Amino acid sequence: MAAEAALKAGTLLRELFEQPHQIRHKSAIDLVTEADLASEELILDMLQHSLPGVKIMSEESFAAYDDIPTEPTWIIDPLDGTTNFAHNFPWFAVSIALYAEGRSQVGIIYNPMQNELFCAALGSGAWLNDKPIKVSNVASLQNALVATGFPYDVREKSDAILAALKTVLTHVQGVRRPGAAALDLAYLACARLDAFWEVGLKPWDTAAGYLLVEEAGGTLSNFAGAPFSPFSPELLASNTLLHNDLTALLTEFSSAAP
Ligand code: IPD
Ligand code: CA
Ligand code: CA
Repeated sequence: MAAEAALKAGTLLRELFEQPHQIRHKSAIDLVTEADLASEELILDMLQHSLPGVKIMSEESFAAYDDIPTEPTWIIDPLDGTTNFAHNFPWFAVSIALYAEGRSQVGIIYNPMQNELFCAALGSGAWLNDKPIKVSNVASLQNALVATGFPYDVREKSDAILAALKTVLTHVQGVRRPGAAALDLAYLACARLDAFWEVGLKPWDTAAGYLLVEEAGGTLSNFAGAPFSPFSPELLASNTLLHNDLTALLTEFSSAAP
């Protein structure tokens, strides 16, 4: 049902992408469009009927969380990549995860412009359009293509973010900033990227993608190498082979650093 909801919401986003947008500012550079809201409404409608009793955490309407959910919860980003969408830059996704027992059990990410559906189920593997996927076998930073992203409060944290970017940029083959964290993780899971890092991500950005990466053989942690949770502020994800080299570079930028 989550995959069906992601496909339907993605189809709606693709249709709305062609239309003029209604854009509202949540903060100076954090936008919401009519498409975020329409996609969310469609997904909630479908999921609330499928498994009654499962709670909802969804970016635009049910985003509050003081604690990590202890009951089964759908964690939803109805449009990941809103800034891209608002600028008619065709790179965005729908992300849906089923979170229970302290971790994601199912993760679905749909890229409607490429018609690519990424799915993962805990202990069963990860797939792109029904084909099993694995992370890359790139073993040196020199040969690695990595991605990053910038949080909406980047202006307040720009020194640390740019310092971390400079450090990674000067050790790898290339750095990309595509603009949709869920797709950054999906691309890592299917070996199109070798690593990804970002600070300040929210559970709806990562809840589906982190399961994809784990099920495809990747590793996730904070910048210092401690275990990752979608409820923690730092994410370093890699194809596993690069993880030690990347934590060595990023550990000094960890908020957990001494
Ligand atoms: C954003 C995107 C972006 C990332 C931001 C996220 P949104 O999500 O994933 O790539 O850098 O940190 O907030 O607002 O487009 O759903
Ligand atoms: Ca997002
Ligand atoms: Ca969003």
